[in-house]
Amino acid sequence: MNKKITIAIDGFSSTGKSTVAKGLAKKLNYVYVDTGAMYRAVTLYMMRKLFVSDTNFDEEAIIRHLPFVSLKFVFNEQKGFAEMYLNGENVEKEIRYMEVSEQVSKVAAVPEVRKLLVEQQQEMGKEKGVVMDGRDIGTVVFPDAELKIFMTASTEKRAQRRYDELIERGDEVEFDAVLKNVKDRDFMDSTREDSPLIKADDAVEFDNSDLDLQEQFDQILKIVEDRLSE
Ligand code: DC
Repeated sequence: MNKKITIAIDGFSSTGKSTVAKGLAKKLNYVYVDTGAMYRAVTLYMMRKLFVSDTNFDEEAIIRHLPFVSLKFVFNEQKGFAEMYLNGENVEKEIRYMEVSEQVSKVAAVPEVRKLLVEQQQEMGKEKGVVMDGRDIGTVVFPDAELKIFMTASTEKRAQRRYDELIERGDEVEFDAVLKNVKDRDFMDSTREDSPLIKADDAVEFDNSDLDLQEQFDQILKIVEDRLSE
């Protein structure tokens, strides 16, 4: 299996894309890029500047400050995955907070933000041997990717998974708030004008509602291996 390909994994929030993508990258010795982390880090930066909050959304200021946002993934040997750095600071934990989840879809809908991050993602994946997950990888970032997977799962299942993750991390959240956030983001991500979340025509749709992690991983690995041997 020496052939290196680009694997694009898209889908709604909390479908388990990143768990599968990370596992695949490790198994294949590929680079993993979590593009959601990039949108989250830009959002965190803009929230700290107070351009984005529950009551404020200053699109003009967001666009003006984009050149001051520097994003970098740094591999953490101990944890076995890359962490997101924003202007030199490790923000891996902070970008997953509910406060950021609640604002990120608005920031991700700004075309200038998307343009900048898509360029950076294309640069990161230009050598192939990459597993990238997000919303527009198979449609916009790498429309020629050799393998595209579109992950789906029921809304309730996804909210439950996200809730369990947050509780395990020690966050104090209500299930209903998580469910609402998942629904709100689904709506915003799939109805925005610029690069809405849609399944690429040539993507393999994969519903994991009734699969555990191992089953999911094994089935997706089989799809990858079939594609690599074509
Ligand atoms: O994958 P995630 O839930 O961490 O992504 C966070 C948000 O970023 C999500 O609500 C939509 C946005 N996003 C996007 O618009 N395009 C991507 N390629 C990845 C994420």
